[in-house]
Amino acid sequence: MPAQTLAAQPGRWLWTCREGFESHLFEELLWADATPRLLGPALLESERRPDVTPAFARAAEKVIATWAPAGGAQVPVEDILDALSGLPTHVPWVLRAFTPDSERGNTQAGRAEALEAAVRAALPSHRLLEEDHRARDAGALLVGLCVAPDGVLVAGAVSAREALSLAPGGRRRMKRAGESPSRAAMKLEEALDGLAHEPGRGDLCVDLGAAPGGWTQRLVARGARVVAVDPARLMPELTKNPRVQHVQQSAFAYAPEEPADWLFCDMAWRPQEVAQLLAKWGRRRWARNLVANIKLPMKDKNPLLLRVRQILVDDGGWEGLTVRQLYHDRDEVTVTAHRMR
Ligand SMILES: C[S@@+](CC[C@H](N)C(=O)[O-])C[C@H]1O[C@@H](n2cnc3c(N)ncnc32)[C@H](O)[C@@H]1O
Repeated sequence: MPAQTLAAQPGRWLWTCREGFESHLFEELLWADATPRLLGPALLESERRPDVTPAFARAAEKVIATWAPAGGAQVPVEDILDALSGLPTHVPWVLRAFTPDSERGNTQAGRAEALEAAVRAALPSHRLLEEDHRARDAGALLVGLCVAPDGVLVAGAVSAREALSLAPGGRRRMKRAGESPSRAAMKLEEALDGLAHEPGRGDLCVDLGAAPGGWTQRLVARGARVVAVDPARLMPELTKNPRVQHVQQSAFAYAPEEPADWLFCDMAWRPQEVAQLLAKWGRRRWARNLVANIKLPMKDKNPLLLRVRQILVDDGGWEGLTVRQLYHDRDEVTVTAHRMR
């Protein structure tokens, strides 16, 4: 790890990841011949953006300008506006200032907030999209200001449609005011948030490794019927729900009575064996859509992930595969895919 945050180079790609996972993202970029460089905790750059999105990347943007003034002096807003002046203005912008998600990076949160407010105030109001959630539909440009430790500031941009995440630095917080959902439930909500369509009323969902029931609970709340497969106990409120059927056995021994619309899997089990089970579901066309959380407690994660991808696609026939370590994922990644009938 560099002793001080390094400045990204204009024209290269800036990547954020979960702190502690830099080596895994570095390896993915290296394997894709993207010539990576570690800039600091939770922050990397690469020469190009690989065709297959790296699993351990949270967000990526193309670097426009970098500043690292001596003594960490404040970069004048005019200099930032000047650097952004070359960006296309025929599409609306979504402005995000963020810090690397690391212990040191998070100390810069106040600086990032103040900078975003200053740049926002200096831009013509019609330039910024008011409803950020419409960014992809509106063909907006995501303009990112990465406020890193040691006075480093990086401005970058990426089309919202090609962005890995619309959240600042890819930190997609799902918690809403007044709610205290489990981390498992937030993992599911974040995974569903990234999909073109979501499970809804009347859909049949199978939830493998369902206990204690965070995912099942969220799916039922969306109006779906859920077959929850897990030898362990479910929350009592779920066992009483007529739209939940608890199959108290191993997922490896379970076969559905009818094809499901959605297969969910959050089983705490060996990744390769879970992948083989999910491949069986794909091959037999037991489900059309897949959302699975794959646990990766081992040190050498990328070779295993490659094998998991291969099993799901080659043996399972799953299509449109995405493999991402989401904001709420720890030593794990979330896989989504679908299967044509
Ligand atoms: C991380 S927890 C799942 C949490 C759940 N998604 C939730 O939202 O509450 C992992 C679960 O995998 C289950 N599991 C492990 N091996 C399994 C197997 N062979 N078949 C079914 N479930 C299994 C465990 O019993 C445990 O309940």
